[in-house]
Amino acid sequence: MKVAIGSDHAGFEQKPALVEWLTSLGYEVIDLGPTTDARCDYPDFADKVARYVAEGKADRGILICGTGIGMAITADKVKGVRASCIQTPHFAHLFREHNNGNVVCISGRFTPYEINRDIVKEFLTTEFAGGRHAGRVDKIMREDDDAFCGVCA
Ligand code: RB5
Repeated sequence: MKVAIGSDHAGFEQKPALVEWLTSLGYEVIDLGPTTDARCDYPDFADKVARYVAEGKADRGILICGTGIGMAITADKVKGVRASCIQTPHFAHLFREHNNGNVVCISGRFTPYEINRDIVKEFLTTEFAGGRHAGRVDKIMREDDDAFCGVCA
């Protein structure tokens, strides 16, 4: 499985260890930066990783910023991406099982590395359940369609 990863300065510290750990497990990791902890703008890296996933150049994406929130807001705006900010392994499991999430956004400042590692593990190993969730995910994705005019109130 190909996994794209990116961060900002606030998420940078945890990125190398995650890359090394994922590589040791056999994942093909594409590190889209940054390469130093110099102050930078999280939307630039969220955009890069989200587009890699949306364009099929990676199967999943991982983004790390201070909270994970800015990364999730940005990545989710890219068509084809289902991104969320995740703080527990259990939510990571449900994010895959129910929402077929393809970009996980985690906090480098408030979530310890060991927890983030477990979040990423759940994110990469849990299958989408399909079934009743499939139609709901289809309804999420219609929001990407410019021709969709919204659900009538
Ligand atoms: C950077 O200070 C911080 O705003 C960023 O890492 C992230 O938490 C934004 O959502």
